[in-house]
Amino acid sequence: MTKQEIVESYSRHVSAGKVKFFQEAGIDFVFGKREGPYVWDIDGAHRLINCHSNGGVFNLGHRHPEIIQAMRDALDSLDIGNHHFVSEQKAILAQMLAEKSPPGMDCVVFGVSGGESIDTAIKIARKATGRRGIVSAQGGYHGHTGLAIAAGDVRYREPFYASLPDFSQVPFNDANALQQALHDNTAAVLFETIPATLGMPIPDEHFYRQVKAACEKNGSLLIMDEVQTGLGRTGMFWGIEHYRTIPDMIVTAKGLGGGLYPMTAVIVQNELARVFDEDPFAHISTIGGADIGCVVAQKVIEISSQPEFLSHVNALAELFSRGVAGLIAKYSPFLLEFRQKGLMSGLKMARPELGPLMTRTSFDAGLLCIYAGNDPSALQFLPPLNIEFSVAEEILERLDTAFREAVKIVKTDS
Ligand SMILES: Cc1ncc(COP(=O)(O)O)c(C=O)c1O
Repeated sequence: MTKQEIVESYSRHVSAGKVKFFQEAGIDFVFGKREGPYVWDIDGAHRLINCHSNGGVFNLGHRHPEIIQAMRDALDSLDIGNHHFVSEQKAILAQMLAEKSPPGMDCVVFGVSGGESIDTAIKIARKATGRRGIVSAQGGYHGHTGLAIAAGDVRYREPFYASLPDFSQVPFNDANALQQALHDNTAAVLFETIPATLGMPIPDEHFYRQVKAACEKNGSLLIMDEVQTGLGRTGMFWGIEHYRTIPDMIVTAKGLGGGLYPMTAVIVQNELARVFDEDPFAHISTIGGADIGCVVAQKVIEISSQPEFLSHVNALAELFSRGVAGLIAKYSPFLLEFRQKGLMSGLKMARPELGPLMTRTSFDAGLLCIYAGNDPSALQFLPPLNIEFSVAEEILERLDTAFREAVKIVKTDS
């Protein structure tokens, strides 16, 4: 198909709305070749450095050769497997995840999507506590499935009549509001460690310790959505480690599948895993934890666990911190702040129109950057974790070009 034919077919059969959106945004791009931090337009004309990584799906870049090799080797002998039976690959992956998690979190429940695993965590919390209430953050996002969507921002649920009773929301990073929201029917508190869709607000140092204390006092559980912040993104394996807080459950997704196989998991405190003892077939996911996917995820964890991996993430984070400080000095008052925990980061700007504008001018400058859905004045900045320093320098130069153009347009318009 020619590029034009692909666009027309996609518009007719998949999503006319998306095609219209990108046309209006001036972003003419069909994903073609992809490799490492780069993606090319289908006609090969335009190359982008991926600075969104699909929220962490491409933490290790596109088509990491070691992960592809592991998957190819696994295809010689494995398939999805049978979710009812004992599986060597599931056992190995679960053990690896447990070893990367706080003591006492040795049990893992697998899924296919992040939303599914958030649903699973909520089910576990409800069964374990015998309560129904779930408190989450206003403006958050936890997935498009039944319980996850009810915990997310109103924008994602109201049009689909997907709001549910017993779900309530509080402003993020407000320990007092949270304490007031807890009641004797609260099963769990659910937060993205750093909410991406809300524009990457970095919580106060003590926030999660206060949250955990409030949960303990109230007999409620703490579920951390580490779908974007996990697997080394923040410079520690789990984002919550920065806050010296041990949650009751950690949900991981996106990057766990290495951008090659859908694989998600809930890592659970041991006593909570007992909810499945009575009827181990009461919670079923046919494809969740597929054997092939487990092999992929094992390789992802192996790569992300190498001692030099996290040091590289932190060194890149420092480089970006210095580079963006220069951009803030240059583009003040338009660029306000670099919200950053490792490579979980966002550029907070002064006006809501700047996010969409920067998405466009970054695209023109050869960068794939996306503004935050629930705070368009913030540009999400999530480059792959394993890029070379020279690529990071190139990203900074291209960001400079993107800002120069965006500011020019804003000044001309006003
Ligand atoms: C923080 C967070 N949680 C959960 C999800 C849902 O994951 P999925 O789209 O795989 O269902 C997302 C997806 O963007 C996310 O960003």
